[in-house]
Amino acid sequence: MCGIIAYTGHRPAVPVLIEGLKSLEYRGYDSAGLAFVHMNRLHLFRASGKLEALEAKLDSGHVLHATSGIGHTRWATHGLPNEVNAHPHLDINAHIALVHNGIIENFQELKTMLVDCGCIFRSETDTEVLVCLVSQGVKKTGSVREAISWALNLVEGSYAFALISRDHPGTIWAARHASPLILGHGTGENFVASDIPAFLPFTREVIFLEDNELVEMNSEKWAVFEVGTLKPVSKSIQTVSWDVQAARKGGYKHFMLKEIFEQPQVIRNCLAGRIERRTGNVLLPEVANLSVPKRLHIIACGTSYHAGLWTKYLMESFARIPVDVEIASEFRYKPLVPEKDKVYLTISQSGETADTLAALSLIKEQGFPVLGLCNVAGSSIARESDHVILTQAGPEISVASTKAMCSQLVLTFLLSLYWARHKNLLDPQIVDRAVNSFDALPDILDQKLPAMSETAASLCRIYSSARSFFFLGRGLYYPLALEGALKLKEISYIHAEGYAAGELKHGPIALIDPDFPTLAIALADPLFRKIKSNLKEIQARKGRIIALTQEGSGLTVDNEWVIPQTWGPLNTFFVLPALQLFAYETAVYLGKDVDQPRNLAKSVTVE
Ligand code: M6R
Repeated sequence: MCGIIAYTGHRPAVPVLIEGLKSLEYRGYDSAGLAFVHMNRLHLFRASGKLEALEAKLDSGHVLHATSGIGHTRWATHGLPNEVNAHPHLDINAHIALVHNGIIENFQELKTMLVDCGCIFRSETDTEVLVCLVSQGVKKTGSVREAISWALNLVEGSYAFALISRDHPGTIWAARHASPLILGHGTGENFVASDIPAFLPFTREVIFLEDNELVEMNSEKWAVFEVGTLKPVSKSIQTVSWDVQAARKGGYKHFMLKEIFEQPQVIRNCLAGRIERRTGNVLLPEVANLSVPKRLHIIACGTSYHAGLWTKYLMESFARIPVDVEIASEFRYKPLVPEKDKVYLTISQSGETADTLAALSLIKEQGFPVLGLCNVAGSSIARESDHVILTQAGPEISVASTKAMCSQLVLTFLLSLYWARHKNLLDPQIVDRAVNSFDALPDILDQKLPAMSETAASLCRIYSSARSFFFLGRGLYYPLALEGALKLKEISYIHAEGYAAGELKHGPIALIDPDFPTLAIALADPLFRKIKSNLKEIQARKGRIIALTQEGSGLTVDNEWVIPQTWGPLNTFFVLPALQLFAYETAVYLGKDVDQPRNLAKSVTVE
């Protein structure tokens, strides 16, 4: 989410920044901007919409004089995607300009403090707090480096930012914490950016910055310091071998794979600022004005519909709220039965799916409140819902949705806890376990994904000749079985059906033979023994089985795929990428067009 780039060197900076922003546009594209120092003045250009809108604003004359500057392409988190909220942001005296990627979680608290000190805010962003804070720091310390370090000690949340000062043309400062930032080392020029492709046409020599590191650089040299102590940190230069084209996918062969691998960070982003550590309370200010529903009705399509089905299990068990889940294209042509205290929840990655949007309009016409869970800020569903929660998955480019579902599940899980707490149903021990397990989850996933990918690749070699597949699960994992089947058919064109394992014997088991394999989700949970019996029934009919299971399952199946284990429902976050990787590797093995499968579009804006 959000792409940042900074350049200092011998070339005209603006074209370098624009080229860099083009390759970062996948990170967000609702507004863009850049800033540079020329003739002792900070020059700022910003535009809402895609990068072309910014380019149209740059008159070719004086913009070519600057040889350093900063640029940004935005994925809105705080504030509408308009020009005022676009980056860079300036301090009140226009001495400092800053671009930021991340979320300043305590921005409200800091803003109050800064307003008391006389700071004036022009945008709704959390970022403006950071630039004002640094400006205060410069007044206190007289040094930009010290000011940044002072400011960062007050900031909570995630950031990667780059900053320029009117008083120090040619110098750039940048720092990171829990958001990516890479330094590019060139000859007589240096760069920082959110991702390597942004400067790859100019240098392959990179320095990976770590959390709490601050870089100060000009065209000739760079130095890295530890935030707080300002002690110099020694860093090594690495040479990357990527070619410019491949790197547009961040080094991944396909956007889909990249997006699967982004899920640990998506989980971190979705959790950022959502849990009050002291009390264990879930923070969802977006629904603060919505009373706890007596009944919840979820409407969505495709993968988002599967996220809705999964939510039903959580919501009913934690918050004891009965949930109906419906496919939007069915819902919109049925009579709407009025029910008091019912809330409708629409789930959509794009926020533009025509059926979901039509369902939303119908519900609003009847005067019911609609809560939208959506990944694209400023999209139709985000704008038209009465209450909106943005899912923070960042731009999802691959047609097959992966990380968006992961983000939807994190948010609806939090929503279940939130309403359970409001109904006084929440056991503090559950909250503790949920919070601790969630905290540990992204790192474990980061570590395990490469091996899971290899397992998926070896399994697909055995099973890719199958013409049909069953995906089975029970309880919470039934919706995931549906999702696993959807992913496989969508990108590999192998027919696949997701079933509740206990339902197989009511008809579909007739299809089982040695050429009709099953992928079963059989985790160590209270339903394990039930699914084990279902698998025996398949084996009795000579069906081959891949069991997605955990250490010590004792299952005797054709292929046991052991995934890591965490607390209860959070095992979902290991199952989901395993299913996605299985579909991905199968499609690659069969030579299919993974990112743009036939007959499909990313956003289905027609009926
Ligand atoms: O943008 P939405 O979440 O509303 O999209 C819904 C479906 O079109 C979408 O999930 C689709 O099923 C994906 N291609 C599945 O990978």
